[in-house]
Amino acid sequence: MKISFRRIFHYLWPEMCRHSLSFSLIFAGYGLGVIFDDIVKPLIYKELINLFSSSAGKDLILEQAMYMVVFLSLIVVIYNLGFRIGDFANSYFQSKVMKSLYDFTFNRLLEHSYHFFSSNFSGSIITKSRRFVRSYETLMDIVSFPIYFSLIVFLGIISILFFQAPLLASIFLFWSLLYLGITFLFIRKKVNYDAIEAGADSMVSARLADSISNILNIKIFSSDQREKAGFQAITSDEEIKRRRAWNFGNLQNLAQAAMMGALQVFVVYLSIYLWYRGDLSLGMFAMLQAYMINLFGFLWNLGHSLTRAAKSLTEMQEVIDIFDTPIDILDSKNPEKLRIKEGRIIFKNISFAYKNNNPVLDDFNLEIFPGERVGLVGHSGAGKSTITKLLLRFADTSSGSIVIDGQNIKNIAQNDLRSVVSYVPQDSILFHRTIRENIAYGKSDATAEEIEMVAKKAFAHEFIVKLRRGYNTMVGERGVKLSGGERQRIAIARAMLKNAPIIVLDEATSSLDSVSEAHIQEAFVELMKGKTTIVVAHRLSTIQKMDRIIVLENGRIIEMGTHRELVSRNGIYADLWNHQSGGFLSD
Ligand SMILES: Nc1ncnc2c1ncn2[C@@H]1O[C@H](COP(=O)(O)OP(=O)(O)OP(=O)(O)O)[C@@H](O)[C@H]1O
Ligand SMILES: [Mg+2]
Repeated sequence: MKISFRRIFHYLWPEMCRHSLSFSLIFAGYGLGVIFDDIVKPLIYKELINLFSSSAGKDLILEQAMYMVVFLSLIVVIYNLGFRIGDFANSYFQSKVMKSLYDFTFNRLLEHSYHFFSSNFSGSIITKSRRFVRSYETLMDIVSFPIYFSLIVFLGIISILFFQAPLLASIFLFWSLLYLGITFLFIRKKVNYDAIEAGADSMVSARLADSISNILNIKIFSSDQREKAGFQAITSDEEIKRRRAWNFGNLQNLAQAAMMGALQVFVVYLSIYLWYRGDLSLGMFAMLQAYMINLFGFLWNLGHSLTRAAKSLTEMQEVIDIFDTPIDILDSKNPEKLRIKEGRIIFKNISFAYKNNNPVLDDFNLEIFPGERVGLVGHSGAGKSTITKLLLRFADTSSGSIVIDGQNIKNIAQNDLRSVVSYVPQDSILFHRTIRENIAYGKSDATAEEIEMVAKKAFAHEFIVKLRRGYNTMVGERGVKLSGGERQRIAIARAMLKNAPIIVLDEATSSLDSVSEAHIQEAFVELMKGKTTIVVAHRLSTIQKMDRIIVLENGRIIEMGTHRELVSRNGIYADLWNHQSGGFLSD
């Protein structure tokens, strides 16, 4: 994976700039703190020690030392103030930016098409998104503490030493540059190890999510042993990759520790030598030791922090790649105003294939008249759901056009298009919210009466009121606490509430018993009045009364007509009908 700082900061910077005051305060506060704590304070100690070792009279020393104490207490107050200002600014800034980044990520994800989500693991998208914000937090902490602190301490110490002990300053400078150079070499290699580790980690999350969402299958096929083995294979792979990354980090520690040890011994040796020559005071000796301890503290962390920063950048890159994935379904730059009222739908020379797959539709043509009720039948995989998805622009056609009331659907905003279609998909999924909220999803300002009315029409009211918490019952993740038929009835109710001029029902009643379905059909008759309707169903009794029935085979229309016409034609439809005889399977 290639990390691009420019692309990462392209997304971070605008969010960070929105809070520029607290952003500046972090650096001003911490800068003040670290200068007074780590650079100025040792200077006072140096003066104190020199004072004590001077040959002046005791009283004079005491008097001057008292001044130093006052001075020291001032410094203590200043650096504490600086650090605390930095802390508060940091808490404010970080919490604000992290919130914005979460919101930004969510908004950006929602811009992607439905198709994007069906071809990406949702588990891994969730992990990556969460890691993105966490990694930003780590990165920012590293920039504002170790990197910034080290830089200030380093510059401060070097400049003071240049005035007081130029030889030592040159040695410090040379050593620090060498240290940084070696650290960078390590980091460049470690980034690759970390990227491999992050990839393995995403695989673990994706597998976990996939297995958990398939828990029913695992139980049905008693495949827990198989699943456990599969999961263990993935975690073993992660274990190896993780250990490789960590061990490389340990190697880096070894190199850093060796360099620090060498400098430490060398500086002590040199100090003794300089002292012997009379070029170094006792105070200076103590100050040097204090500076070295401070510098080592920061530099030791710096090496690790830079490695962690690189790791965070790698993790952020994963999400940036998603951000940068071109959005496959875009609104046109100047969308036309919505003029759809009647619902005359024309599919013109449509060809379509899912990514890297064989064509599903090939030169498909169909005109549906305003207010017409059309039934779509055909063998499983014939392309019925695909047609409904193209109509809602969940994917774009490879060639041809879909025109509604004279408007090409590509020229209107997707939200506008979907606002004129009530759609019940083949597998209705509900939000883990209350039944009331799920129904009201069709119309955000729906009143309690409206919700109850559509629930009655969709034959859902009866079962809802029997639930202990009625309309306030939470339905479980994806609606698992309801039966398939109950879930469908909620989905129908919320589509009814939307009351759009075009209705698309994809197997909307497939999970209902025949009696409930017959009742809902009556409600649909009312709902469909004056509206263009497309009904996809395997159960032919569902579409028997449609104005026109279209039989699809391999993405092409092979028969078309009313139920009566098709039955008398003795073609595929008649064959299907004979097998179902009036909607019920016969032998
Ligand atoms: N997201 C997808 N990616 C790739 N191929 C897909 C995708 N969705 C559907 N297909 C393929 O497109 C073809 C048509 O699928 P579609 O869902 O339109 O069939 P259908 O007629 O609705 O079938 P069913 O009656 O089983 O619902 C099938 O061969 C299917 O495998
Ligand atoms: Mg289908």
